[in-house]
Amino acid sequence: MSAASPVDSRFALHESQAEALAGAYGTPLYVIDEAHFRARIRRYLTAFRAVWPDCEITFASKANSTLALLAIAAQEGCWIDAASEGELRAAIQAGVPASQVHLHGNNKAQTEIEAAFELGVNQIVVDNFAEIERIAGLRDAKKNCPDLVLRLAPGVDPVTHAKISTGQADTKFGFNITDGSAEKALVRCLELSLPVKGIHCHVGSQLLDPEAQRSGGALLASFAREMLAKHGFRTEVLNVGGGLGVRYLDGDEPMPLEDYCRLVVDAIKGELEGSGLSPKLVQEPGRSLIAESGVTLYRVGVRKTVPSKEKGQRTYLCVDGGLSDNPRPVMYGSKYTVLSFIEGPREPFTISGKHCETDRLFEEVHLPSTIKEGDLVQVLCTGAYNSSMASNYNRYPRPATALIRADGSHCLIQRRDTWEEMFAREIVPEGLGSCQV
Ligand code: LLP
Repeated sequence: MSAASPVDSRFALHESQAEALAGAYGTPLYVIDEAHFRARIRRYLTAFRAVWPDCEITFASKANSTLALLAIAAQEGCWIDAASEGELRAAIQAGVPASQVHLHGNNKAQTEIEAAFELGVNQIVVDNFAEIERIAGLRDAKKNCPDLVLRLAPGVDPVTHAKISTGQADTKFGFNITDGSAEKALVRCLELSLPVKGIHCHVGSQLLDPEAQRSGGALLASFAREMLAKHGFRTEVLNVGGGLGVRYLDGDEPMPLEDYCRLVVDAIKGELEGSGLSPKLVQEPGRSLIAESGVTLYRVGVRKTVPSKEKGQRTYLCVDGGLSDNPRPVMYGSKYTVLSFIEGPREPFTISGKHCETDRLFEEVHLPSTIKEGDLVQVLCTGAYNSSMASNYNRYPRPATALIRADGSHCLIQRRDTWEEMFAREIVPEGLGSCQV
């Protein structure tokens, strides 16, 4: 088999495992390695605690909210970040107490805020002025309130894809520090005697250069210091969000977790020095906890060589999934490492999916020339933002997810959609008439 290099931190399947899994559950198939995921969480927590003992890791469940994985994250000591009522309910369904969940959202519906109160979430991350007033209204009606943390936009512009960059001033997320909104929001919460405990920012995602998170953390800490001086507000929770990048391609070099935690904490420490503030520090990683623990297994259905203006000729390998199980290449131009399980001299292929789109999933993928219809390929690093972003486009059932257990056995943690489910929401009005003309 052609596996990832030995220094590579990404999980990859061996040929025999791949055949067994494809035989048991079919393809396309998401596969998560439990031991890899657990080890990653432990390493992150150890690294963070080593530089700031009063800390918390909150798993951003948008990256992958499969219930078994939420349960594993919680068992390993993570809290859960829910970006919606659905993600909050997923955490509870997985057995995570709501008192270990933070609720996010830039436009939370009244019903979502009510659910947060009723289910007893630990914390609401407040995004805007209207939300402050809604929360105050509910607090008055219910005589209790989850802790509040204000989401701030620190005004830093990270180097990443524009669609996943959120910390700059021109963003729909949070209260701007630079235009005074953040201070106004805090003052309003204090006027209303709301239980505001701290501040939060998330500057962007898939960041291979951590400068944005470093300066986001520093700006948050200097805001905390200023608010203490001006309003006597003591920041008890300072959350720097997620965003650390992962290795999609062999050449990607995310900062090691230990260095990353030290860098972010040092920036905050430097700003807090002498202020008397010593908040609990929180990080909210999604991708950097789960992405590298997962792969997607596809089977090649068609091999086709066509004339190409750019290259003379192009050979397509069409796999049995694509846009509906991994929209990231089409949405963000994301690139992935694709491996086959055979050896031999290589040539470049274009890997496409099954969808009615010109969806070149992965281009210039160097695989053995002898690869043929029926062979399996695996795409590395698909544990994050694949299963959670899957759709039924072209009415393809979303894939199952298999978990490789620590003892090497495997089981299903999410089965493939069924045809019954595919049509369960549909209503064809009775008076519509017959389809036969
Ligand atoms: N916290 C907040 C408030 C966030 O908005 C996000 C991601 C995270 C934490 C986790 O970020 P991570 O550590 O996973 O980078 N669908 C896109 C990613 C969107 C991420 C949005 N927010 C993708 O596939 O790349």
